Amino acid sequence: MHINRRRVLDIYDVWSEERACRCMAKVLRADYIENQRARDSLLSEGETLKRLTHIHIVRAYEVIENPCPVVILEMLPGETLDYLIYTHRRRRLSLSNIVFLGLHLCSAMHYLHRQGLLHLNLKPSNILATAGMAKVIDLSIAQRPGRARGRGMGTRQYMAPEQCSGAVLTEATDVWGIGVVLFHAATGKPPFEAEAGEKYQQLERRADPVRSHRRVPNTFATAVDRCLDSEPARRPTVDELAELLYGVGNST
Ligand SMILES: Nc1ncnc2c1ncn2[C@@H]1O[C@H](COP(=O)(O)OP(=O)(O)OP(=O)(O)O)[C@@H](O)[C@H]1O
Ligand SMILES: [Mg+2]
Repeated sequence: MHINRRRVLDIYDVWSEERACRCMAKVLRADYIENQRARDSLLSEGETLKRLTHIHIVRAYEVIENPCPVVILEMLPGETLDYLIYTHRRRRLSLSNIVFLGLHLCSAMHYLHRQGLLHLNLKPSNILATAGMAKVIDLSIAQRPGRARGRGMGTRQYMAPEQCSGAVLTEATDVWGIGVVLFHAATGKPPFEAEAGEKYQQLERRADPVRSHRRVPNTFATAVDRCLDSEPARRPTVDELAELLYGVGNST
């Protein structure tokens, strides 16, 4: 069953004869089959996901190269965080769920960074909520720390300032990503909107303090606001962020 048509990929709900279960297939769209960069990117995402074994990161079972690149992923039940935020737009997600979300993302990024990789595309549509568990998907632009492999890689309103300006990317870039996701989940709105053209709001102004949009404990607000510091060196590390979020859990 065809689930989703993306810019470069199609996502299918498929049946695995080998495992006798449903899986997800990420397939290059027919109009991108000849595009070497798109092929390499999908195959490299598949190989990376096959190597990673973490409770908060989607598993890849198989990578098929020919006749066209396909990555077979475990089928994650549940909804994207995007959808959950939308359905909770009147009665927002509870703070304890958001703190768990943050801790799960910290755990996933702690592991990914130890493997020498940055995710660089953390956003609500790349997180699935499955039985009280957050799972990170979409490693399509993951890379080692350093300058971005391609220009403008990422999703405009979620990109860290250093991604927008083409500067060096570090683990702190994913800390920004966690901060944006937590801000969005807590307030129902991302801290920045995508603008047409070359402009990036995040290069022009600071994010609003979370508390100007929702009454949350100071410990939580400070943690998220610090992730959204435009200077990467001033953000907490992933492990410091996890500590800050544990502190919120204890105070609620
Ligand atoms: N393993 C999975 N289990 C369930 N749903 C999935 C899975 N992988 C992907 N999806 C669904 O397909 C959508 C697109 O997947 P993914 O983000 O990996 O593709 P993409 O083309 O790289 O996306 P983007 O638009 O962010 O570039 C997700 O938002 C999710 O709804
Ligand atoms: Mg995606």
